[in-house]
Amino acid sequence: MPRIAFVNGRYVPHRAATVHIEDRGYQFADGVYEVCEVAHGYVMDMTRHLDRLGRSLGELAMAWPMRRNALELVMREVIRRNRVENGLVYLQVTRGVAPRDHVFPAASTRPALVVTAKRTDPAAAMRKAETGIAVITVPENRWDRVDIKTVGLLPNVLARQKAKEAGAQEAWFIDADGTVKEGAATNAWIVTKDGVLVTRPADHGILRGITRATVFDVAAKLGMTIEERSFTVSEAKSARESFITAATTVVMPVVRIDGDPVANGHPGTVALSLRKAFFDVAEKTQA
Ligand code: PDD
Repeated sequence: MPRIAFVNGRYVPHRAATVHIEDRGYQFADGVYEVCEVAHGYVMDMTRHLDRLGRSLGELAMAWPMRRNALELVMREVIRRNRVENGLVYLQVTRGVAPRDHVFPAASTRPALVVTAKRTDPAAAMRKAETGIAVITVPENRWDRVDIKTVGLLPNVLARQKAKEAGAQEAWFIDADGTVKEGAATNAWIVTKDGVLVTRPADHGILRGITRATVFDVAAKLGMTIEERSFTVSEAKSARESFITAATTVVMPVVRIDGDPVANGHPGTVALSLRKAFFDVAEKTQA
């Protein structure tokens, strides 16, 4: 069965799914994106993801590529056509196709829209969660508007590659003051000795993760306390637990930071219980 993508109004096989060479996403990274988890045939937290898409578009003075409810239908249709029960749906909106010029193109330029979906293996993800992952740290070198989910991800790409070469799965960006900002594609958390969940405030310094927001709801349901504040690398290394959150990982325990074990070097019970309760708490939209 060929994978099907939605590209500017048409459902096409992947091998025929192409964008124009003067797409501003291609030339300037002038575009935004969203990634939603698909679990058991449901899109997770679609409302929050599309709210954030609207915010990203607004911050960059870009128009919606189509009405929001039509976009929801396209996402669900791409999931259905690819028979994704568990996986990810990706959507990308760019400022459209126009002769290369840094200033915005004519107001009549239509935003370009691509939607794809792919399957992932929940059993493999569960095995990973039972082992935990390793992270490395890298100096923050991104612009100060990482709260906008743009496709300009070169520092994130380089950081992830560095993590891979070091045998780790994620890289945390570290601020000049030594505090942890977030991962290349995930938010960062620790659990203190007293069992308090700590994550950096979602100001302009990090992306306001949707999984992060839903983990607030999950924690409330499980009677856990969350403190939104910065934490240092050394605090993370000596924490009771650490974990990351993203649509691609849900809640994933971190067991090593720069080669040093977090606590006893095994996934903690808080992260695993958040992971377990996540599906029930998150908003579910049938695909
Ligand atoms: N990344 N921080 C960054 C820099 C991210 O790129 C992401 C998501 C997150 C977590 O956000 P959410 O919980 O909404 O997925 C935090 C996506 C999954 C990606 O680029 O693949």
